[in-house]
Amino acid sequence: MENRDLYNFNDYKRNPMKYYGGANGSKFGIIINNVNYMLKFPSKNKREYKKIYTNSSICEDISCRIINTLGLNAQETLLGTYGDKITVACKDFEVDGYILKDFAHLKNSIIDSEESGYGKELDDVLHAIREQQIIDEKLLINFFWEMFVVDAFLGNFDRHNGNWGFLINENKSDAKIAPIYDCASCLYPALSEQGMIEIINDRSEIEQRIYSFPSSSLLIEGVKIQYANFLQTTTSKDVLDAIIKIGSQINLNHIIKIIYTTPSITDTHKQFLELMINERYNLIIQPAIKRAKELI
Ligand SMILES: Nc1ncnc2c1ncn2[C@@H]1O[C@H](COP(=O)(O)OP(=O)(O)O)[C@@H](O)[C@H]1O
Ligand SMILES: [Mg+2]
Repeated sequence: MENRDLYNFNDYKRNPMKYYGGANGSKFGIIINNVNYMLKFPSKNKREYKKIYTNSSICEDISCRIINTLGLNAQETLLGTYGDKITVACKDFEVDGYILKDFAHLKNSIIDSEESGYGKELDDVLHAIREQQIIDEKLLINFFWEMFVVDAFLGNFDRHNGNWGFLINENKSDAKIAPIYDCASCLYPALSEQGMIEIINDRSEIEQRIYSFPSSSLLIEGVKIQYANFLQTTTSKDVLDAIIKIGSQINLNHIIKIIYTTPSITDTHKQFLELMINERYNLIIQPAIKRAKELI
């Protein structure tokens, strides 16, 4: 199996006209073969003293590639180095006059919403999805739950209302759902090599990372949603449909191949991700699919 290319992003021109927000590390615009990309630097590990960088670039690249195999549309990514850091270039989807507006902006326009745009209560998020006027309600609810199931599979703890959204072209009066972006909090980005080895060798450490954390950033009555519990107890037809749809798309062999052909990833990291993807599938997704099929 051949690895994908590892780019040297120092070789490409910066785009001085593009700037990006977000709170998890530096980013700037670069141009690769006449196409705009957002070059995103790894986030720092918040628990450690300064300058310890996480694996967030690798996690972002692998996660976006996995999502694109599941019938959902994620941003295109390339891995590379910039100076001494592993960085990820995310193809800029603001093209043809379409501008990104995140869900938080849209939610802020719902005047009887209980919380502000960034509010994380699931009921309030679902209320805003029903009330918004720019995307067909059924299409958006399906997208929302399919993205939720994918985030459960990949252990994403940061899909807040600023981390998904819409592309809007004001001149054309057109709006569509944006490709899925910011997947840097999937697949346990903050672990050290030593941490991975300890988890690989300890069943209880693995199960903790399936059943206790990471949890969703969404809340039910102020409490973070636990992915396994939620997907295995839900009675919502919308959620059950999403579980079956995403479940039918998961091809573990293909996903493991994505992991093993990632450039710059260490052998321990490959082994860890293969293990955790298999465990998350077997303990979270597969039981949820079985139950969903019985209920529907
Ligand atoms: N592929 C992309 N194309 C255009 N804009 C993007 C893309 N990905 C992210 N953005 C914008 O840049 C911001 C920061 O990116 P994000 O990946 O969310 O970084 P962070 O992890 O720091 O939150 C996003 O909130 C969004 O506004
Ligand atoms: Mg973000």
